[in-house]
Amino acid sequence: MPIFTNDYPAARMVTIAIIGGSGPEGRGLGLRFAIAGHAVVLGSRDAARANEAAGAVAALSPGAAVSGALNADAARAAEWVVLSVPYEGLDDTVRALAPSLDGKMVVSVVAPLAFEGGQPRAVLVPEGSAAELVQGLVPNAQVTSAFHNLSAKELLKPHERLAGDVIVCGDDAQAKADTVGLVNVIQDLRGVDGGPLSNSRIVEELTALLLYVNMRAKSRATIKLLGLD
Ligand SMILES: NC(=O)c1ccc[n+]([C@@H]2O[C@H](COP(=O)([O-])OP(=O)(O)OC[C@H]3O[C@@H](n4cnc5c(N)ncnc54)[C@H](OP(=O)(O)O)[C@@H]3O)[C@@H](O)[C@H]2O)c1
Repeated sequence: MPIFTNDYPAARMVTIAIIGGSGPEGRGLGLRFAIAGHAVVLGSRDAARANEAAGAVAALSPGAAVSGALNADAARAAEWVVLSVPYEGLDDTVRALAPSLDGKMVVSVVAPLAFEGGQPRAVLVPEGSAAELVQGLVPNAQVTSAFHNLSAKELLKPHERLAGDVIVCGDDAQAKADTVGLVNVIQDLRGVDGGPLSNSRIVEELTALLLYVNMRAKSRATIKLLGLD
């Protein structure tokens, strides 16, 4: 299998639910998936917040297929479900949605972080990583993890070019290849097969390091692997 592919069926529109889609990361990913031609449902625990987020994202890309819904309705309606809630709420959120996630593609973007004295640090996850926590809760879903090292602020600027590699981890080879493809529908990003879901811990923890660097340098650094062309 190639290490990264471009064979995601961008020609076929899929419905992508973003759980926690009212937050910046969910809005940013939703915007980019919608620009790529997919139907996006931004989920929230509150219908009004979901609709507000959908309106704001649609305004950034007129004509994009973006709607808002309660998390449960969003997950039920979608083929792909992206989990974009804070780590603290992940367990409860996934348990509540579990019946709707069964058999689906589920992508975790969750980076477990805490702030101490204003500095970010990675939170130790008993299951190994947030993504493995999710897979344990929904064993029949195809869980992958991606997008941890990208800033929502960059995703939310549709007229500026993105840059960088997005490491995708997962235990199901096809699900991982499809997620790499989903990354690649976002212009200028490159999805890279990062190995099994247990490697997600490394990518999740790297977010704390990148945040620290970016806070100090007032920058938007992300990651790019050299020598992969
Ligand atoms: N922001 C970034 O640049 C960035 C980059 C890479 C990865 N990430 C990861 O992406 C995820 C979302 O990031 P974010 O910055 O968008 O986070 P956020 O704004 O803190 O949260 C996103 C949404 O999750 C919902 N939420 C908050 N607490 C919750 C809880 N306890 N249970 C269930 N839902 C809850 C809220 O939506 P409602 O109140 O409307 O339900 C909120 O708008 C995080 O796990 C983060 O680590 C973020």
